Amino acid sequence: MKFFIDTADFNEIRDLAATGLVDGVTTNPSLIAKSGAKFLDLIPQICEVVKGPVSAEVAATDFDTMMAEGRKLSKIAKNIAVKVPLTPAGLKVCRTLSDAGTMVNVTLCFSAGQAILAAKAGATFISPFVGRLDDVGEDGMALIGDIVQIYRQYPDIKTQVLVASIRGPRHVIEAAKLGAHVGTLPPAALRALYSHPLTDKGLSAFVADWQKTGQSILDEQELAAVRKTA
Ligand code: E4P
Repeated sequence: MKFFIDTADFNEIRDLAATGLVDGVTTNPSLIAKSGAKFLDLIPQICEVVKGPVSAEVAATDFDTMMAEGRKLSKIAKNIAVKVPLTPAGLKVCRTLSDAGTMVNVTLCFSAGQAILAAKAGATFISPFVGRLDDVGEDGMALIGDIVQIYRQYPDIKTQVLVASIRGPRHVIEAAKLGAHVGTLPPAALRALYSHPLTDKGLSAFVADWQKTGQSILDEQELAAVRKTA
């Protein structure tokens, strides 16, 4: 399963990219507004730091303006995935950009029928929003299961299921069990995946027991070299 990070906070993106676990980034207009960043300055910076797909969303809702915005965004870098809403006009933009070789992420998907349309429109990614479905009392993960199952029936469908609106580790694990291709994780959800109290407890015991042995794997010179580069 690929991990994208779902944020427009450049410092977070740079820090998490350094973990070696980040395969891409998703942004949306709300995340851009929250970051306070200038969209057209920020996106090229993200594309430099993360070499995988970086989703940049169009702002318009009519076909002609979305097309012009999509074409402009796609020229920023080779790893741009233009993000379009799941509307008739958005899917028309998807078809046109995708035919021209641009990656497209179709966003705001809330039903399996919509996901079928996005695949037919040549989407690179379909983004079903699990958290927002859970929030209104529906089962977000059931939708992921449906889409994965449907896409698997048709080997010619190349659209990847990008699980969006993830709220925490449970969503990530369930999506992975279902075979979703990608999860886009808020930074806190990615950090939470590392954590387990027994890992912390076990590590403290190992460190304490090793100290009791009085041994060192590295000699003084080797340790000094490590401190110099750290
Ligand atoms: C990502 O592509 C989506 O825009 C994002 O995951 C939505 O998340 P939210 O429901 O937490 O706003």
